[in-house]
Amino acid sequence: MNTDREIKMSDEEAKAELEIWRYVFGFSDLAAVKCAIELGIADTIDANGHPMTLAELSDALGLQPSPLHRIMRLLVQRRVFGEKRDEAGQPSYVLTPISHRLLKRVDGSKVALLLFHSDSDMLLPMHSLTAHIQGDQRLPFEIVFGEHEWSYMDKHPVQRELLNNAMACNAQTVVPAIVGGCPGLFEGVSTVVDVGGGNGTAMRTLVKACPWIKAINFDLPLVVGGAPECNGVVHVGGDMFAAIPKADVVFIKWVLHDWGDEDCIKILRKCKEAIPADKGKVIIVEAVLTEDAEEGGLRDARLMLDLFMLAHTKGKERTEAEWKNIITSTGFREYTIKPIPAIQSVIEVFP
Ligand SMILES: C[S@@+](CC[C@H](N)C(=O)[O-])C[C@H]1O[C@@H](n2cnc3c(N)ncnc32)[C@H](O)[C@@H]1O
Repeated sequence: MNTDREIKMSDEEAKAELEIWRYVFGFSDLAAVKCAIELGIADTIDANGHPMTLAELSDALGLQPSPLHRIMRLLVQRRVFGEKRDEAGQPSYVLTPISHRLLKRVDGSKVALLLFHSDSDMLLPMHSLTAHIQGDQRLPFEIVFGEHEWSYMDKHPVQRELLNNAMACNAQTVVPAIVGGCPGLFEGVSTVVDVGGGNGTAMRTLVKACPWIKAINFDLPLVVGGAPECNGVVHVGGDMFAAIPKADVVFIKWVLHDWGDEDCIKILRKCKEAIPADKGKVIIVEAVLTEDAEEGGLRDARLMLDLFMLAHTKGKERTEAEWKNIITSTGFREYTIKPIPAIQSVIEVFP
């Protein structure tokens, strides 16, 4: 007779045998979701206003039903779309909470983030992780493209646009999470400069929520050159390693994780110079990794993001101890960390 331990081991083996296939064909999930976005499947079902049969969906999209059915079958299996049956047992596709996030123009849409991360150029550096870990001094991104991400972006407007849109997509959900999750954070603040603010979405969203604020969106000249105008937001082009426009508050989101510790300290020194010593502060919006393996879903996402940073940049996702080291090495007096319902936390830093 099998002992409990033997039964447990065989359970583990059976689970492993199932799970390993997720890695063998892991790319299929991303490919199917990308395909659904490019075809506009979620938007079509949404616009239809009621569930759609395969025939209705393929008609509306002008596609052959057979390959569409195969994409939908996988996405239903993954709960990206749902299936509802009528009284005659005829199945129709419906949206689920996941496909709501594949709608192009809704709050909380993740379309731009998915399109950036599934771009073929952006995926290539992942194939050079091994060479880098084995000692190639170049970043995986450099191994593939022969240069760093920001100079590559200058020459690749398509990927630059994908990146800007992805960052904007994240800012649209994170800024309201910051304002809602940190009451008083912008109270008494007249001016904010967003360092590495991309196309200005974060500041556009902030001045809507806090209309008393005058905002500066600061980024490389080529980036702000293409940024849309907005009341209450001034775009300024420059280099954060040289000088940052002065303001009561420096806001810096998803920039420091692109850089190694030495560069982060250089950037934060410039941030410190830009704010008043008595009442200024720097608001860093970045992931804070915990050691707690049981933390749940967002830790998973943060670790995957860290791998992307390893492939693309000199930076990384950091633990609280690593943030503390950078902040205190720059000469800041104190800091607080506040979790928000997002992949990032709010790190408030005082001079
Ligand atoms: C990962 S993106 C983050 C964008 C934005 N903060 C957000 O979270 O939506 C990093 C930004 O840093 C900008 N950047 C890179 N080097 C810079 C520099 N030397 N000076 C100013 N901005 C820079 C890039 O152009 C890019 O927009």
